[in-house]
Amino acid sequence: MLKVSIVGGSGYAGGELLRIALSHPKVIVKQVTSERFKGEPAVLLHPNLRGLTDLRFDSINSLKKSDLLFISLPNGVSMGYMRNFLKTSGRIIDLGADFRLTDPRIFQDWYAKSHQEPGLLKKFIYGLPELHRRDLKKAKFVACGGCEATAIILALYPLVKERMLAKDGIIADVKIGSSAAGNKPSSASHHPERHGVLRSYRPTNHRHQAEIEQEIGLDVEISATAVNLVRGILATIHTQVKRGVEEKDVWRAYRKVYKNEPFIRIVKQKQGLYRYPEPKILWGTNYCDIGFEKSQDSNRLVVISAIDNLVKGTAGQAIQAMNLMYGFKETLGLDFPGLHPI
Ligand SMILES: NC(=O)c1ccc[n+]([C@@H]2O[C@H](COP(=O)([O-])OP(=O)(O)OC[C@H]3O[C@@H](n4cnc5c(N)ncnc54)[C@H](OP(=O)(O)O)[C@@H]3O)[C@@H](O)[C@H]2O)c1
Repeated sequence: MLKVSIVGGSGYAGGELLRIALSHPKVIVKQVTSERFKGEPAVLLHPNLRGLTDLRFDSINSLKKSDLLFISLPNGVSMGYMRNFLKTSGRIIDLGADFRLTDPRIFQDWYAKSHQEPGLLKKFIYGLPELHRRDLKKAKFVACGGCEATAIILALYPLVKERMLAKDGIIADVKIGSSAAGNKPSSASHHPERHGVLRSYRPTNHRHQAEIEQEIGLDVEISATAVNLVRGILATIHTQVKRGVEEKDVWRAYRKVYKNEPFIRIVKQKQGLYRYPEPKILWGTNYCDIGFEKSQDSNRLVVISAIDNLVKGTAGQAIQAMNLMYGFKETLGLDFPGLHPI
């Protein structure tokens, strides 16, 4: 059995990781950390796990050796601890942003601070199996993609690979639920202020643009809006295809690139309520659903992608990467199909 520990296990992403890891047949969770709640039972923060674990939170300072360390700390925190983490485990999967960008200058441009471990950046593999499966099988260090970046990269990757897009002017309009902001309360997350919102919180200059450019070489402008959901991302991506590209070519590109992908589904139906991707039916699942429609009288192609930010957008992606690193079946622990109606 693989012995893992979760740093930042009291948070939303860490809690989701714990949920999936506890039911994974090849994994034993040895420790979960929280500074605020050290000594308290993990189920105090994750009541859905009652009866499934008697783990209590430890401090980050009392981490013991493990085979694999998952790190789920706020952006900018994990790089300060990384040297210590490496003393407790030879393999790391980081869910945060600190090790996603391979170029420390680009990190500085987007995160407005210099990287504390620039020499380690190139050792990390970006955590999306759909792009990096071969490297993940040999990886020791993995940096999972940002949730919004994940939805956008997966939506556009086949079109880039098959050279169908006119490169400029791609705009991703992203709608996102409140759990993406983590479990620390703020005035913005206070119920009377958050409930019912359609709040444009990052119309331009979204940090995930940097990782999208790194991974698929496209300059995508993101406009992000907080919506009245707890979980879920819907990315509506406005693109232009090259002259002559038709919908059947787009279909072919997705089928070709994703035909063997266990967690990608192309959703484009002529009838029914769920004709296009819809995050609600993905809650708790590791799927990324992708749909598209091309304008009949122009080159405009709208691509729509949906994920659960806490699963394919982070913890499920991390478990999928772990399965590859250790030669487990890639879908192990990730077979929850979602609920309907919900
Ligand atoms: N939420 C999402 O949908 C999502 C999606 C993709 C990626 N991510 C990434 O996942 C990471 C965690 O996000 P989250 O949403 O789970 O955040 P969160 O709910 O705020 O959890 C943060 C965790 O980090 C711990 N922590 C905070 N500051 C610390 C410090 N200085 N030293 C030690 N521990 C500290 C917290 O422990 P305490 O109990 O002590 O506060 C908590 O366990 C972030 O890097 C985020 O970018 C999140």
